[in-house]
Amino acid sequence: MPSPSPTPPTARHDEVVPILDFGSQTAQLIARRVRELGVFTLLVSPSISPKELLAMNPKGIILSGGPSSVYESGAPKCDPAIFDLGIPVLGICYGMQLAAHVLGGEVKPSREREFGRAHIALSGTRNVLLHGVPDRTTVWMSHGDQVSDPRGVFTPLASTPTCPLAAAVCTTPDASGRPRQFYGVQFHPEVTHTPHGMDLLRNFVYEVCKARGNWRMSDFAETMAAQVRAQVGDGHVVCGLSGGVDSAVVAALLHKAIGSQLHCVFVDTGLLRNGERELVESTFRDHFKIDLRVADAGEQFLADLAGITDPQEKRRRIGHRFIDVFKDAAKHIPKAKFLAQGTLYPDVIESGHGHAGTAAGIKLHHNVGGLPAELGFELVEPLRELFKDEVRKLGSVLGLPDQIVWRHPFPGPGLAVRVLGDITKEKLAILRDADEILLEEIVSANLYRSTSQVFAVLLPVQSVGVMGDGRTYERTVAIRAVETQDFMTADWARIPYDILARISNRIINEVRGVNRVCYDISSKPPATIEWE
Ligand code: XMP
Repeated sequence: MPSPSPTPPTARHDEVVPILDFGSQTAQLIARRVRELGVFTLLVSPSISPKELLAMNPKGIILSGGPSSVYESGAPKCDPAIFDLGIPVLGICYGMQLAAHVLGGEVKPSREREFGRAHIALSGTRNVLLHGVPDRTTVWMSHGDQVSDPRGVFTPLASTPTCPLAAAVCTTPDASGRPRQFYGVQFHPEVTHTPHGMDLLRNFVYEVCKARGNWRMSDFAETMAAQVRAQVGDGHVVCGLSGGVDSAVVAALLHKAIGSQLHCVFVDTGLLRNGERELVESTFRDHFKIDLRVADAGEQFLADLAGITDPQEKRRRIGHRFIDVFKDAAKHIPKAKFLAQGTLYPDVIESGHGHAGTAAGIKLHHNVGGLPAELGFELVEPLRELFKDEVRKLGSVLGLPDQIVWRHPFPGPGLAVRVLGDITKEKLAILRDADEILLEEIVSANLYRSTSQVFAVLLPVQSVGVMGDGRTYERTVAIRAVETQDFMTADWARIPYDILARISNRIINEVRGVNRVCYDISSKPPATIEWE
């Protein structure tokens, strides 16, 4: 296992509950829940020393789950002295098993492996950890091993039919003779499938650890700004703006951290929507007074795409051109050593680059790796610990307008994958106008925030219509509106018929060259969100 640096140097707060990350897919989700409770947390390596932990003056410690079994060779371990610091510890799943292994319990393969929903019943012993949790409730389990207790070091707090110690507390004396405050849960309180999981975590941080809960997102901005300053020193940073929320938040954060050492590049691909470039210019150049360089490359992109109909070939050409244009713009920025990127936590974990380096790799994401090596910059990724909704919160704290903070995602290849078939200036103009009307109506119907992504697609289809007394033979626009949590699966949004009618009516009347509008009622899977 690699040994990452245990603690970022500037991550200090007067109240901290660090999480030892044993490689769980949900370690960062635990962190996010603790932050939601208003308590500062950070993921640290399992190899952190008790001295380093004490230096943080932690209110409590959480041990995450992990994919290993405690008996496997190379399974991540922590220093057993961590259980003798007089600090409350909560072990979750693997974290509980590891603690049991140290504190005198036993860890064995479960009679039945439990993956998914399970039902716990609380024991007769009432403990503050489970205050407010009903006697019987659902939890989310994901384990092959479980803890048994032949020496009686644990007090059972909850069980399932196959797991007698689904929750337990250990109060045996520690090395200094103080009663330990170790709590273990075999299930995952951090996931939404455990409906009372937040109660449990709240009880741990407030009732057991006695935290006051004074952490706010503005503190994160301060902490990250300090961390960025420590990383870049007097170096200069290039930040590519896309118009989307992630890169916008990175730019606003870096501006706060390093002011004029930040230089933003916005590539106008000629494949953007109406008003996109203007919004970026007015926000970053006019409002934040950031050095914003706009690379006007529409003609080059269009020339590359002439006659190309295959979606993957479109993406490939756009990707290559983008790198060339970006490189060229960055070349003119003096002393630029760093490249800022809006990589979020789900991108990191999906690439198997979790804190402990042990999270199983699931897929390679385009944000992680690739571009920087090609450009020769060192990366600055201040959003690596955050989830999307936290990024939006941070954006608001940093003063970004709602229009950017709540912006729906827009794909890098832009309208090129929404004009189906070959791309021309005329088709792009038709699609831009249709898309603008669509979004205007969605916003005025108050549906922008409740939908995840709404856009128009120009189909390579012409059909017969009648306008006035004349026959028309014109283009078709499809409307796509989806609701989704993670964009991996999505359902089509049930936009009310009268709003769809207005959108269709306006597009057909106001956009020359369109005589038909269709509504896409496909879910993902089997369809994808984009049409290409
Ligand atoms: P699909 O179409 O795969 O889209 O269901 C899922 C999400 O990803 C966006 N998307 C892209 N984003 N480059 C991007 O930066 C791309 O090539 C790309 N293709 C799709 C899409 O808009 C949706 O939010």
